[in-house]
Amino acid sequence: MQVKPTPNARNNAPAYVLIAAIAAVVALAFTYTAGWLSFDRLTPAKLVNAFSPPGGPALGFRRNHAKGICFTGTFESNGAGASLSKAQIFTVGTYRVVGRFNLGTVDPTAADPTIRVRGLSLDFVTPDGSEWRTAMLDAPFFAVSTPQSFYALLQASAKKDDPNAMKIFAAAHPEFPKFGAWVMSAPRTASYAQDQFNSLNSFVLVDAKGEQRVVRWSFVPTAEPQILTPDELKQRGPNFLESEITQRVHGGPQRWKMIVIVANPGDPTADPSKAWPEDRRKVETGTLVVSAIEPEADGPCRDLNFDPTILPVGMHVSDDPFPAARSAAYAVSFNRRAAENKYYPHTPAEGAKP
Ligand code: HEM
Repeated sequence: MQVKPTPNARNNAPAYVLIAAIAAVVALAFTYTAGWLSFDRLTPAKLVNAFSPPGGPALGFRRNHAKGICFTGTFESNGAGASLSKAQIFTVGTYRVVGRFNLGTVDPTAADPTIRVRGLSLDFVTPDGSEWRTAMLDAPFFAVSTPQSFYALLQASAKKDDPNAMKIFAAAHPEFPKFGAWVMSAPRTASYAQDQFNSLNSFVLVDAKGEQRVVRWSFVPTAEPQILTPDELKQRGPNFLESEITQRVHGGPQRWKMIVIVANPGDPTADPSKAWPEDRRKVETGTLVVSAIEPEADGPCRDLNFDPTILPVGMHVSDDPFPAARSAAYAVSFNRRAAENKYYPHTPAEGAKP
């Protein structure tokens, strides 16, 4: 017996074609959004890949600032910040902090004296359930003006065999030589406890009346700086910063004053390579107290992503393009290192010398 196609089956053909066409358009849209069709577009993955040294990244570690030491402590807020922001962290009180001293290197085994840029990352938690994360540097301004320029810098510095690569980069990025000069000349201290750390990126604080102000912030050490001569620095051990801060905190809590700097109208808020003039309004909002050094390997920082866009109510991002770019890149780095957990050393590296 011959089975005839039902009228319905015959009529469905155009519908299938239409469904297939819609699916193709959706797939194309996803492909475009993922950046696979725009080869020049800067994606978070490209940014993170650009940190990778020739032998590949250190698996399981942060893709930048891979070397560091975790700590816990508190933020003692003096209430002065409440005039700028309604975030609970600025009301008088003592709030829990998890943080990390770190070095701007992709190599978790790098020798401390060889790394120029030091960082301080903080995660503040308040009883209202808010969280504020910030990751700062000891530099007074950032190396470049835009995330695209930062990508170009990473690419140029990877071309170790091409003596012209950095020259060409510097010529195309007039803001960069100033950072280069800081790298070459800024004094180096004997301790993380003696360093000032700066947000560099700008953010917006919103007060209880809804008024908004663009700010940056700094954590200024209360410890007297001991400047190391280049020779003294060379003689320090490969892990001297970590050993020093561990010993120092063991002897007593270490403190930094938090200073909020308020922009004047017209200040460059979207460009962290441009420092604001010194005379800007400054508000001292409290004191960071570092009271315990925690293990880096399996401590509370391991699974923390110090994403600078995690902000409480009363703070939000500004027109500075970096925090969004950083957030996206840190997520890629975090996902990769979390997936590589089996490669991450779960005890302190053997043979680590002070
Ligand atoms: C587009 C520019 C930038 C990119 C692509 C970038 C990328 C990264 C990546 C991939 C990490 C590791 C994140 C993780 O695995 O958790 C990291 C960490 C860090 N970055 Fe950036 N960064 C940028 C700009 C900045 C700026 C402007 C600052 C400071 C103002 C900064 C300070 C830090 C610090 C202190 C850490 C260590 C965070 C931690 O302790 O986990 N970075 N960065």
